[in-house]
Amino acid sequence: MKGPADALVTRAEHLRRTIRKHEHLYYVLLEPEISDQKFDALDRELRDLEAAHPELITHDSPTQRVGGGPLTEFPPVAHAAPMLSLDNTYSEDEVRDFEARVRRQLGETPLSYVAEPKIDGLSLSVTYENAILTRAVTRGDGKIGDDVTVNARTIRSLPLALASSRPGLKVPSLIEVRGEVYLPRSVFARANDERTRNGEEPFVNARNAASGAMKQLDPRQVAERGLELFLYSVARSSEPEARSHSDALRLIGDLGLRTNPEIKACASIEEALAHCAALRLKRDALDYDIDGVVIKVDSLSLQRELGATSKFPRWAIAYKFPAERAATRLVNIDVQVGRTGKLTPVAHLEPVFVAGTTVSRATLHNAEEIARKDIRVGDTVVVERGGDVIPKIVEVALGLRPPSAKPFMMPAACPVCLTHVAAMDDEVDLRCPNASCPAQIEERIKHFARRQAMDIEGLGDKLVALLVSDGTLRNIADLYTLEVDVLAQLERMGEKSAANLVASIEKSRGAGLQRLLFGLGIRFVGERAAELLSRRFGSIDALSQATAEEIDAVPEIGQAVVASVREWFTASQNQDLIDHLKRAGLQLKTLSAGPAQPRTLEGLQFVLTGVLPSMDRNEAKRLIEGRGGRVTSAVSSKTSYIVAGDDAGSKLEKARTLGIKVLDEAGLVGLLGENPRA
Ligand code: IVH
Repeated sequence: MKGPADALVTRAEHLRRTIRKHEHLYYVLLEPEISDQKFDALDRELRDLEAAHPELITHDSPTQRVGGGPLTEFPPVAHAAPMLSLDNTYSEDEVRDFEARVRRQLGETPLSYVAEPKIDGLSLSVTYENAILTRAVTRGDGKIGDDVTVNARTIRSLPLALASSRPGLKVPSLIEVRGEVYLPRSVFARANDERTRNGEEPFVNARNAASGAMKQLDPRQVAERGLELFLYSVARSSEPEARSHSDALRLIGDLGLRTNPEIKACASIEEALAHCAALRLKRDALDYDIDGVVIKVDSLSLQRELGATSKFPRWAIAYKFPAERAATRLVNIDVQVGRTGKLTPVAHLEPVFVAGTTVSRATLHNAEEIARKDIRVGDTVVVERGGDVIPKIVEVALGLRPPSAKPFMMPAACPVCLTHVAAMDDEVDLRCPNASCPAQIEERIKHFARRQAMDIEGLGDKLVALLVSDGTLRNIADLYTLEVDVLAQLERMGEKSAANLVASIEKSRGAGLQRLLFGLGIRFVGERAAELLSRRFGSIDALSQATAEEIDAVPEIGQAVVASVREWFTASQNQDLIDHLKRAGLQLKTLSAGPAQPRTLEGLQFVLTGVLPSMDRNEAKRLIEGRGGRVTSAVSSKTSYIVAGDDAGSKLEKARTLGIKVLDEAGLVGLLGENPRA
C-alpha cells in the first residue's frame, strides 16, 4: 500500500535515526548539539507516533530501551572466547619485569603499548548482529556468564544499533565487544544520599551499586540506577581483525560505541608508567572509580604470539594504585548492638583527612580482626579508604605504641542489657542473645518504621529510645497500643505531633505483607526477598507454615534466606509477635495490585526536582504514572508542572523562565485527588 502509511514509516525511521544521532552526541561523545527541549520533542513525537501506530515500533527504537516486565532469571550463556582476568601489580619495577618477560618471549621487535584506566566496575560482553544489539552477557566465571541483555539495553551510553561514522567503514555483520559497566561517582553519591535520608544502608561502593543494579530482574529499576559503560576491546568480528589495539579502539568509537577518553598510546614502557602517574593524579577528578591502569601490548599479532595462561593474557598487566592511607590515633573502641543482636566494635579515631574526606570512625568487624591486627586503644593506626565508603584500619604503627596502650577485649556481657554474650552461628561474631535487649528492640523498631518498611512518620530515633527505655515499647506490636494523650505528655511532644504519629501508625496497619516482611528485620530478608516471599506465599500464615523446600523453590531466594526465615518463624516469641500483630489488626496478606486509578493526569507532563518532604521520587513518579501522567527528566515547553522540593536547582529556574506551573508536595497531593497514595 502506498500513501500516508509510507510517509509514517519514513517519518518514524527518520526520527529513530535522528534520536540515535543525538543520543550518541549526548551520551557517548558528551557533545550535545541540540537542547534538551528539542531532544524531548523528537522523543515525544516518536513515542506518540508509535503509540498511534504500534506496528511502527522496532526493537532497536530508542523508545524501547526498557521493554517488557520483570524477568524471572538470567539465562546462562557460554562465551565465544573466555573472558580472562588481568595479572596485577602495585610496583613499577614489576611493570618493568613484565616488559622484560614480553621481550624475552618476542625477541628483538619494536614494542609499543596502550595505557588505559582500569575502570572499577563489572565487565560486560556485548554482541551486535547486523548492527543491532542482540546480546549482553556478564563475565560470570569467565566461561559462562548471565544473559543480561534487557538490563544492558537500559544503559543510555550503549547504542541499541551501531552506525558507522567513518567513510568506507561498514558495520560488521557480527561483532562482539567488551567493556566495563560502572555507576558514575556523581550518581553514586546522590543515590547514597537518598538511601541515607531514607534510613537505608548506603552502598559500600559504586562497583557494588553497579553490580547490584545489573542483577536486578526488573529492567525498569536498572534504568533508574543510571549505569554507564566504556568499551575496551573487540572479542570477535566478521570483518578482518584490526592491526593494533589502538586501531580496534578507534574502530569501536567509529561504530558509535563509547571508549574512554584517557586512553593513551605509548611508545615505551616508561611512557606508559608516566601515564599511570598522570592518571593517578587525575583520579579524583574523574566521574568514575579507577583502581589502576591497564598496560597492553598494542600490536594484535604480538598479542596473539604472547598468548595467555589459563587466567590472564601475557600481553597485559594491571598496575594498581595503592589505596589512600593516613595515620591517626585510635581514641577508643566501643561496641554497638545491632538489630539481630550482633556486637560490632567501632573505632573512634582522631579525625584525619583521607582520600578527600575527614574520617573519625572505622569499623573493626569483630574481635578476631582486632586481635589479628593487634589493635590497641591508644595506638597510632593506619586507616585506608579505597573505593569504599567506610574506611578500615589496615595496620598499627607498632613503633609508636605508647606503654599505656590497652589490648581490647570484647565484653563478656552486652554493653546495653548486660546479658552474657553468645557466639553467632558463624562462630566468629558475638551477639547479645537477649531478644528483649533494649538496643535490639530500638534497632528493630527503627527498622520497622522505615519508609521502605511500614513507613511510620514522626517516630524519630530519640523518641524510640525514650519509649523503649521507659518500657512502653517492648516489641513492634506495642506500637499499635500507643495512645495520643499518653504520647502528648512526653517532653517535646505536642498534642498535634502525637496525633500525627498515631495516625501514621494506624495507617501502617494496611501496609501489606511485603512491607511487613521487610520491616520484621529477619536476617537476610531485604526488600527484594520480602517482595518475592510475599508474592509467592500471599500471607504470613502460609509463609510461617512453608517448609524449607518450598521456600528454597522460590527463584532468587538463596540458602541463607531459607534458613533464616525458618529459624525466625520457629521461635516462639516471634509466633507471639505475629499473634499480637494479628490482634492489632495488621494486614498480613499480600496486597493485590488494587483498583486502577482514574487517569486524571492523562496528557500531562511532570518534572520532579529537589527533595520532597515525605515522598521519594520513585513514589511520586509511580503515583503520577498511575493516573496516566508522564514524568520526564528535562524541563521543556511541553512540561505541564514542575514538582519542586527542597534544594531544587536549575530545573526550577528554567521552569520559572518558561512560565511553567510550580507545585510543592501538597500541591501534587491535591492534584492526585482522593486516596493520593493509592
Ligand atoms: S582488558 C583479557 N581493560 O579489569 C583482559 N580490563 O582485573 C581483558 N577492566 O575483567 C581485560 N578496565 O573487567 C581491560 N581498560 C580495561 C579495563 C579492564 C577494567 C576490568 C575487566 C577485567 C578486570 C581484570
